Amino acid sequence: MSTIDKISEWKQKRDAVILAHYYVRDEVQAVADYVGDSFYLSKVAAKVDAKVILFCGVSFMGESAKILNPGKTVVMPDMLADCPMAHMADIGRIQKLREEYEDLAVVCYINSTALLKTYSDVCVTSSNALKIVKALPNRHIFFIPDENLGRYVASQAPEKHIFFNEGFCHVHKGILAGDVVKAKEAHPGAQFLAHPECTMDVIALADYVGSTSGIIDFATGDAGGEFIIGTEAGVLYELRQKNPGKRFYPVGQGRHCPDMKRITLENVASALEKMENRVELQEGIRQRAKEPLERMLELGSQ
Ligand code: 13P
Ligand code: SF4
Repeated sequence: MSTIDKISEWKQKRDAVILAHYYVRDEVQAVADYVGDSFYLSKVAAKVDAKVILFCGVSFMGESAKILNPGKTVVMPDMLADCPMAHMADIGRIQKLREEYEDLAVVCYINSTALLKTYSDVCVTSSNALKIVKALPNRHIFFIPDENLGRYVASQAPEKHIFFNEGFCHVHKGILAGDVVKAKEAHPGAQFLAHPECTMDVIALADYVGSTSGIIDFATGDAGGEFIIGTEAGVLYELRQKNPGKRFYPVGQGRHCPDMKRITLENVASALEKMENRVELQEGIRQRAKEPLERMLELGSQ
């Protein structure tokens, strides 16, 4: 029996649904029931009715699915698939800024641990961060953990006073402005589409800035036929599926997230069969982390 057949057999037996982020391997995206960006996947996770959610992504994604859906079994293909940026914020600094600024809102990128979420007022993803920050009544914002997304939001929301944190995504930080310039020279007719986890010198070169879904929707809806893609190379799969007549170029050799790439067809099949790698959270943490996530779902959908 092929691994793909094994996955569909165990998926049925377990009453499971497979969610996958655009950054996982092409063949894993191909077997998923839902593929999307972090915001879309968190909305799906909040309302699917299968008994088991198999999350093809990194640990903060599985944790968010469990936080929103405690009655379901959430399984990860590989427990070691973890986003380094999710850990890059200091609780002491959050507490200190809260003491200093009475009206401080702690805005937490969803790429964060469940524990960091418990210290936050609202979660955001790259597709709704600007909208949610603008909608908050607070002028002082501490944006954790991603400095680059925080700086991009600040550049679009000058009415806010945003404090930055030193977290970053090493995959997007490795997209270099010099390489973007070279790609533009090699493809003068192409537009450059960038993810807001990129550094500001890269963002300054972009024709469009948005989440993975935003980039895919822009390229699909735009009349142009050539695009340089400033995000993790996994999005090229969906871009090419949806747009067979258009051309997509990575920056340099393309950037690959090693944690997302830990998910393989083999560990998807094995996780469904063995039902190991279950996401478990302390109930107190889950309850407190649920509040900023639910606030995001409410504000992000308005
Ligand atoms: P989005 O899914 O919001 O585009 O974020 C990308 C990301 O880094 C996920 O790890
Ligand atoms: Fe984390 Fe960056 Fe990988 Fe996304 S691409 S999971 S932000 S390291």
